[in-house]
Amino acid sequence: MFALVWLILLFYSSLVSTQDLSHDDVLQGKNIVVLAGQSNMSGRGGVINDTWDGFVPPECHQNSSILRLSAGLTWEEAMEPLHRDIDVVRTCGVGPGMAFANSVLEKDPSFGVIGLVPCAVGGTNISEWRRGSVLYNQLIRRANAALQGGGVIRALLWYQGESDTVIHKDAELYKRRLMKFFDDVRSDLMSPILPVIQVALASGKGPYKEIVRKAQLETNLQNVKCVDAKGLPLEPDGLHLTTLAQVELGKMLADAFLQNVPLPVRIGNFSKKSEPMDTSKDSERINNEGDVEIKVETVDHRLPPGEKKESKSKDEKVEITHVFPPDQKPGAGNVVGEAVVKVAENFQSAKQAISGTHKTE
Ligand SMILES: *[C@@H]1O[C@H](CO)[C@@H](O)[C@H](O)[C@H]1NC(C)=O
Ligand SMILES: *[C@@H]1O[C@H](CO)[C@@H](O)[C@H](O)[C@H]1NC(C)=O
Ligand SMILES: *[C@@H]1O[C@H](CO)[C@@H](O)[C@H](O)[C@H]1NC(C)=O
Ligand SMILES: *[C@@H]1O[C@H](CO)[C@@H](O)[C@H](O)[C@H]1NC(C)=O
Ligand SMILES: *[C@@H]1O[C@H](CO)[C@@H](O)[C@H](O)[C@H]1NC(C)=O
Repeated sequence: MFALVWLILLFYSSLVSTQDLSHDDVLQGKNIVVLAGQSNMSGRGGVINDTWDGFVPPECHQNSSILRLSAGLTWEEAMEPLHRDIDVVRTCGVGPGMAFANSVLEKDPSFGVIGLVPCAVGGTNISEWRRGSVLYNQLIRRANAALQGGGVIRALLWYQGESDTVIHKDAELYKRRLMKFFDDVRSDLMSPILPVIQVALASGKGPYKEIVRKAQLETNLQNVKCVDAKGLPLEPDGLHLTTLAQVELGKMLADAFLQNVPLPVRIGNFSKKSEPMDTSKDSERINNEGDVEIKVETVDHRLPPGEKKESKSKDEKVEITHVFPPDQKPGAGNVVGEAVVKVAENFQSAKQAISGTHKTE
């Protein structure tokens, strides 16, 4: 079942609120972008016979406004290969991340600092990214660590699926697993409409690439966009995008990102703004009590793929209440951290209550 639900986020004094992030807010911190998926996101451009040729095209050059969160969770100036200490089993080369960031800065010079959070690992299937898995936990942990120095997670860039083209059942289940993954990430990052830009596979090693491709192109979730890698040149291995193809892809991702991608709404400890929220977007509104309501889509993953049921009412509501002690930042391992976990759980169970789902998989 797909249901559009208005979540009502109740503010407790000014301790907790949601914030409609304006460009000014974003400029105060990093524009954090999480990169995940398998080898093409990690980057194999310029890698032949397990050796990277070291060629970095101008579109992927370093810039002091482009940072990278290292495996040790420190920020450093980003450079190729972006995933060198994350995807450590194979040799990394050029991926789309640097070209994406350079392209965003070129098209919007006032964009501010971009903080890239590489998380992709080659050869991984969608099941290995399910909630609770090593890769999933690492993604959430790194994304939260990235937030510690200030900033906003602006998007998840996702390029994966090849490993799910081999077995028919996996391909069939891909769409459900993918949507659940996006849903879970948004929920655990407390960013219910986090923009996601994914890449549709051009080909796959398995026979069922068309099924996976279709799932990617037809992921029908709010703020999930798809760019198509079809036609981009591959390395002689026939498996990976070349360096120049990655540059092209990075530009495509930047275009998709800059075109009408709304700023994410994050549930957190923000001070309430005095001016009213922009309610022109249909994803947020203010109710009579002055609470912010956010429209989110919930998905019942137990239903077979393709089977959709509309919700009875277009205006179902869930109330989420949450309180943080003052003067503390959400984080792990303390009282506030636990409060944050509680919020995430409430958020999830409220959605499940509406859609009638329980945790599966
Ligand atoms: C890569 O390895 C193959 C097979 O061993 C060889 O034929 C080819 O020349 C190698 N290519 C490069 C660029 O080293
Ligand atoms: C870095 O990016 C900025 C835009 O934010 C641009 O003006 C500058 O020329 C870039 N620097 C280099 C060395 O490319
Ligand atoms: C996904 O990959 C893991 C590890 O390689 C493997 O054990 C598992 O069977 C795969 N699952 C699917 C559904 O392909
Ligand atoms: C890399 O991307 C290309 C283009 O979409 C695709 O054909 C190929 O299967 C991908 N390879 C892997 C290992 O994901
Ligand atoms: C959390 O909210 C309180 C109350 O508005 C504020 O004093 C505190 O600085 C905030 N903490 C952070 C980390 O934003």
